[in-house]
Amino acid sequence: MAQDDLKRSAALAAIDYIRPKLTTRSIVGVGTGSTTNYFIDALADIRHLFDACVSSSEDSTRRLTEHGISVLDLNSVAEVTVYVDGADEVNGARQLIKGGGGALTREKIVAAASDEFVCIVDEGKVVDVLGRYPLPVEVIPMARGLVARAIVELGGAPELREGLTDNGNLILGVHDLAITDPVEMEQRLNNIVGVVCNGLFAAQAAHRVLIASATGVRLLQ
Ligand code: 5RP
Repeated sequence: MAQDDLKRSAALAAIDYIRPKLTTRSIVGVGTGSTTNYFIDALADIRHLFDACVSSSEDSTRRLTEHGISVLDLNSVAEVTVYVDGADEVNGARQLIKGGGGALTREKIVAAASDEFVCIVDEGKVVDVLGRYPLPVEVIPMARGLVARAIVELGGAPELREGLTDNGNLILGVHDLAITDPVEMEQRLNNIVGVVCNGLFAAQAAHRVLIASATGVRLLQ
């Protein structure tokens, strides 16, 4: 089965999973990326079941709006029923590497604000140990060199990605980090002055992960 078909399967499974939780007052948190795009497209079919969305990126906001789904500022909502988003890597403890699309900071904010975080992936994203995917770290532009040197001290090899985030910052993709303790590594990276956020979602892992493979979608919880 092609990876895109698996992404679509995971997204549709998320629709089935969230549908019973929704009321006409519910706010749905929406992530970013190609898997999430399948989720957004399917969400359009059930938009009568919830109130509105909060979004983790300009791209997702645009796609939601094109479907006629209203998108609210996170500051204007009291509660987010559920957050659905993809990931670049997932381990057995539901800890993640995210940020391949550069939206990690807003993704982590919306995830933190939500009652439940449902991650949707194809089986190619499942790993025993996080770190094969270069870990995205969002950095204030003037601190790029300072942060890069501190990351080298931690054993990582930072590489500057092209472009700016929705927040006007840079992304360093960090190779070769030994992420044996994801929570500790997440904290150590956050403690570097100039780091806005890093793509380890470990201290707050996903509550559920829907993993699509050729034999179906399984739930990790
Ligand atoms: C964006 C993300 C994405 O969820 C992650 O990169 C997975 O993307 P895709 O669904 O396209 O494989 O974290 O910042």
